[in-house]
Amino acid sequence: SRPMRAVLLGCGTVGSALRARLPQGVAIEAIAVSRWRDLGKGPVRVLDSLDAALDLAPDLVIDALPGCAGAETALERAVQAGAHIVSANKAVIARRPDLERAAKEKGRAFLYSAAVGGGVPVLETVSALNARGREITTVKGVFNGTSNFVLDRLAKGEALDDAVRAAQAAGFAEADPSADLDGDDAAAKLVLTARAAWGVDLDIQAIARQSITELAPGFAAKAAREGLRIRQVGRLARSGGGVHAAVRLEAVGADSVFYRVEREGNGVVIALKDAPGVILTGKGAGGAPTAASMAGDIARLVAEHG
Ligand code: HSE
Repeated sequence: SRPMRAVLLGCGTVGSALRARLPQGVAIEAIAVSRWRDLGKGPVRVLDSLDAALDLAPDLVIDALPGCAGAETALERAVQAGAHIVSANKAVIARRPDLERAAKEKGRAFLYSAAVGGGVPVLETVSALNARGREITTVKGVFNGTSNFVLDRLAKGEALDDAVRAAQAAGFAEADPSADLDGDDAAAKLVLTARAAWGVDLDIQAIARQSITELAPGFAAKAAREGLRIRQVGRLARSGGGVHAAVRLEAVGADSVFYRVEREGNGVVIALKDAPGVILTGKGAGGAPTAASMAGDIARLVAEHG
């Protein structure tokens, strides 16, 4: 059968990594970029407008845009245009639960495995547990890799600005790194995890969070002298009909799973009712792991709809 015709939105850290590992059965007809960059030689058209991309009436829109204002419009219009969607856009998908519903009403796939955990299969595991009738009670985790990366550099005495620049250079931080530092990125991932676990839509604005920028100077270094590491930990707990969510900075000892989550790592602990829990760890940020997760969604889409 003919390959699925796709357009790729964004060709930064994630989009370019995805081009290098695109599954069979899909062909990228055009790439829409908001900022010009040298994409190298290749048979793809580079478009600078979303309209031109959607005019191609693609079967699939692959969204690897950063969580900028234009990304929300892009995803909305791609859904309206009736394309299948594979996205890593945690901020937009958390804010706009209606997009997934609208896509599904049109019989289109709306997949975003990469939006939580990067390369770590957090949403996939939650769905698998649900499918087996296992009841998830709490989820806690380090959902943002940049936070560890920065906190461990602060602990060594590096200045915050330098640590953040290093995280950006490594391709881990968001285009606006305040989303990493302030816990907004982790909060968006909690919203998506709660949606997958319990079918609830949390209001991201209502999730309490503590910012790394508010840590007292020397705090992380002092913790390190005491054998502790500071980690940005997101928590979800179901109680009664509601779900409580928060993102906090916690000092953890060597006995904690989160202590060993380093650099771009994510670590997520899922507790189950009347059963032992599940711990997932792996690479939570960066082009290659995130693209691998998107490639998994694309492969699934090709298998089911191609
Ligand atoms: N900026 C994010 C992080 C990227 O550091 O975890 C992955 O979502």
